[in-house]
Amino acid sequence: MNRKAVYAGSFDPITNGHLDIVRRALGVFDEVIVAVLRNPAKDTALFDADERVAMIREALADLGDRVSADAFSGLLVEYADRVQATAIIRGLRAVSDFEYEFQMAMMNRHLNARVETYFMTASEAYFYTASKLVKEVASLGGNVSALVPPVVQRALLQRFGGKQPA
Ligand code: PNS
Repeated sequence: MNRKAVYAGSFDPITNGHLDIVRRALGVFDEVIVAVLRNPAKDTALFDADERVAMIREALADLGDRVSADAFSGLLVEYADRVQATAIIRGLRAVSDFEYEFQMAMMNRHLNARVETYFMTASEAYFYTASKLVKEVASLGGNVSALVPPVVQRALLQRFGGKQPA
C-alpha cells in the first residue's frame, strides 16, 4: 500500500521548520506532497502561490523523488482525494497552535472521514520559526539565514534587500 500524505499550508515562505517536518513525514509515509493553498481572493501573501511552489521545489531538491510540491485551491480534503492521499500533515509548534488545528482537523474529518490528520512537531531548534516572523525580521534587515533554505533567503533579500531598520 502506498501511504501518501499531503502536507498543506500557506508556506509564505517555506522555512527550515517546515523542511524538518517534511523529513520526518518521509520517515512515516511513502510519498509526501507539500501543498500550497492558492487563495488569490484574500491573499495578502508576500510571495504568490507559484513563487512559493517554485521555492519549495528547489528546497526539496535533495530529498528525493518521494516528495513533491503543488498548489491547490478549494477544500483541502477534496484535493487530498484528487491526489489519492489518505493523510493530512500539520506541524504543531506551541500549545497555542492546538485549538485552531484541532478545529480544522475535526472539520476536515466531518467533510471527509477517509482522510486522517496527523500532527507532527519539528525539532526544538525551530520552535520559534514562523513564516510571519521570518518575514518581519527579514523586512527589518535581520539575518534569517539559519531559519530558511538558501532559495528563500535569496528571495527575501530581493524583496527587502534595500530596506534597513530606521
Ligand atoms: O499554513 P496555514 O495558513 O495555517 O494553512 C492553512 C490551510 C491552507 C491548511 C487551510 O487554510 C486549508 O486547508 N485551506 C483550504 C480550504 C479548506 O479546506 N478549508 C476547510 C479546512 S477547516
